[in-house]
Amino acid sequence: MPQHVQGVIAPGRNEPVRVETIVIPDPGPGEAVVKIQACGVCHTDLHYKQGAINDEFPFLLGHEAAGIVESVGEGVTDVTPGDFVVLNWRAVCGTCRACLRGRPWYCFATHNAKQRMTLLDGTELSPALGIGAFAEKTLVAAGQCTKVDPAVAPEVAGLLGCGVMAGIGAAINTGNVGRGDTVAVIGCGGVGDAAIVGSRLAGAAKIIAVDIDDRKLETAKGMGATHTVNSRSADAVEAIRELTGGFGADVVIEAVGRPETYRQAFYARDLAGTVVLVGVPTPEMKLELPLLDVFGRGGALKSSWYGDCLPSRDFPMLIDLHQQGRIDLAAFVTETIGLGDVEKAFARMHEGDVLRSVVVL
Ligand SMILES: NC(=O)c1ccc[n+]([C@@H]2O[C@H](COP(=O)([O-])OP(=O)(O)OC[C@H]3O[C@@H](n4cnc5c(N)ncnc54)[C@H](O)[C@@H]3O)[C@@H](O)[C@H]2O)c1
Ligand SMILES: [Zn+2]
Ligand SMILES: [Zn+2]
Repeated sequence: MPQHVQGVIAPGRNEPVRVETIVIPDPGPGEAVVKIQACGVCHTDLHYKQGAINDEFPFLLGHEAAGIVESVGEGVTDVTPGDFVVLNWRAVCGTCRACLRGRPWYCFATHNAKQRMTLLDGTELSPALGIGAFAEKTLVAAGQCTKVDPAVAPEVAGLLGCGVMAGIGAAINTGNVGRGDTVAVIGCGGVGDAAIVGSRLAGAAKIIAVDIDDRKLETAKGMGATHTVNSRSADAVEAIRELTGGFGADVVIEAVGRPETYRQAFYARDLAGTVVLVGVPTPEMKLELPLLDVFGRGGALKSSWYGDCLPSRDFPMLIDLHQQGRIDLAAFVTETIGLGDVEKAFARMHEGDVLRSVVVL
């Protein structure tokens, strides 16, 4: 029997989000219905609402979630009802060219539920990143459920489902930050701060946090930044060079997603250094750089999709490190809110008041 639950939809470009009744089908082959316990508000949800990802409105928002598997469809063996899971947007296929070459973190054919969730009138919903978890329940592919230790609070564990994993992974997987490296992180929201946590975990000697908001820089210090730069009042490139013996950082992580901050990242890294773009740009953005500088500075210009993570490997590992006190995932939760507060949470994110607002159900 299809179920009726409450969920937060973005009805159209830049229209306010609202709570609606959502119809959840029974799980088909390879699918699972998950009872959502917590879902963080990520900047990417705001991008969806603004129409910056695509035009497939209405969206069922929310994609940074943890919950309990309620029911599974035919052929599902990896998870069973009652399992505590973090939802991921990388259910790897195992058969695409990336998977076959042993690089499943790049999987080019990740899957989602085949059936669609709808509004009461039958309108099909597009779940954000194939998840849609600002809802009491959601339908996903079973491979999107990663089992983790239920001793960790859902509002903390769920953060691994997107921003915190993206940031930590941008440092340790994509940027390959190593012991003794100098790192600069531009943009210290949830993703940038997670990149700071990841860099510290990897043994970086110096971690320079850059933001335009002093409150964000204060929080970044608590996460492990050794130096801070307010790029409204100082030139980010010069400041980072000054703090690194005049050379630039070994790894610069861009966690804003804008051409001007990418350019800062490009020029603030040392020769043969690495730039990691984990911030997500919008379609109209363009970047112009002298090609001779791209060549002459050497090194690597990389993008980080979801922190190049492998959920089955990385989620349980990070939960372990959290439980051992070696990283503090709880520090990312600024506030817990209800389903009806998502629009307000977007405004608070825009104002820079929060790292993560987490909807708790
Ligand atoms: N690559 C991925 O897989 C992935 C996953 C999740 C989120 N993201 C993206 O990462 C980015 C950050 O997400 P978030 O949730 O941390 O957002 P957020 O809004 O919480 O943080 C953005 C931060 O950037 C700062 N900022 C804005 N303009 C700046 C500038 N010109 N210079 C320096 N700092 C500036 C803001 O003050 C804020 O602290 C977004 O683009 C989001 O879509 C990417
Ligand atoms: Zn694949
Ligand atoms: Zn996200």
